[in-house]
Amino acid sequence: MMYDGGKIIIGLLIFIGFSTFPFLFTMGKAVAKPEPKIDTPEIQKMVDKKCIESKQYMKTEHMVILNDWRDAVVRDGLRLYKSKDGRSFDMSLQNTCMKCHSSKKKFCDECHNYVAVKPYCWDCHIAPQEGT
Ligand code: HEC
Ligand code: HEC
Ligand code: HEC
Repeated sequence: MMYDGGKIIIGLLIFIGFSTFPFLFTMGKAVAKPEPKIDTPEIQKMVDKKCIESKQYMKTEHMVILNDWRDAVVRDGLRLYKSKDGRSFDMSLQNTCMKCHSSKKKFCDECHNYVAVKPYCWDCHIAPQEGT
């Protein structure tokens, strides 16, 4: 019987190449898919675990909301936000958003690191103390 050792080795190398490629490929992007955590003490207390607006809306519009809040407070001296379902919130990054989302690391940063945005808000606004 005759077999070609060279071809087998090349075949093996190709096989190894294909089976490790996806792994090597994802290693380049060190950050795993974001999993923002909402298991904070404040949210655990809520019966109805809802954000100020729907989750889908918050996902895409939270930066717009924050921008509007800042304008409302700083320019117009308004502080009260009425959500679409009629609940009232104080328009405050620290006292409202971060009260519920009290782990900036496990929530805000989780997504922001993934998409590589670094909001400069924390140059001035104080992020909650992270429990260890
Ligand atoms: C009363 C508590 C509370 C407040 C205040 C609050 N959130 Fe939330 N937030 C939640 C909860 C609970 C969820 C999860 C909602 C769900 O799963 O339907 C959530 C979801 C979100 C999401 C979507 C997360 C995801 O996995 O897609 C974003 C973004 C968000 N909040 C940002 C904010 C920002 C910014 C503010 C302030 C403008 C804010 N939240 C204020 C409780 C709150
Ligand atoms: C579900 C993922 C997710 C969560 C959770 C989240 N963000 Fe974001 N955030 C994003 C994405 C994505 C962008 C970038 C949007 C873009 O560039 O258009 C962004 C952008 C922003 C911006 C605008 C930054 C800029 O430079 O343009 C602010 C401000 C912001 N987020 C605040 C927050 C705060 C505060 C929290 C925590 C309370 C939070 N976000 C939680 C996904 C998230
Ligand atoms: C240079 C400092 C500075 C930076 C950077 C900054 N802010 Fe502010 N922000 C302020 C000051 C000062 C006020 C006024 C505080 C007040 O009147 O209660 C304010 C008020 C606000 C308010 C309303 C009041 C409150 O308690 O939150 C919001 C919302 C807000 N900023 C969001 C943001 C967001 C979102 C970012 C980042 C995209 C940001 N700010 C970046 C200084 C800053």
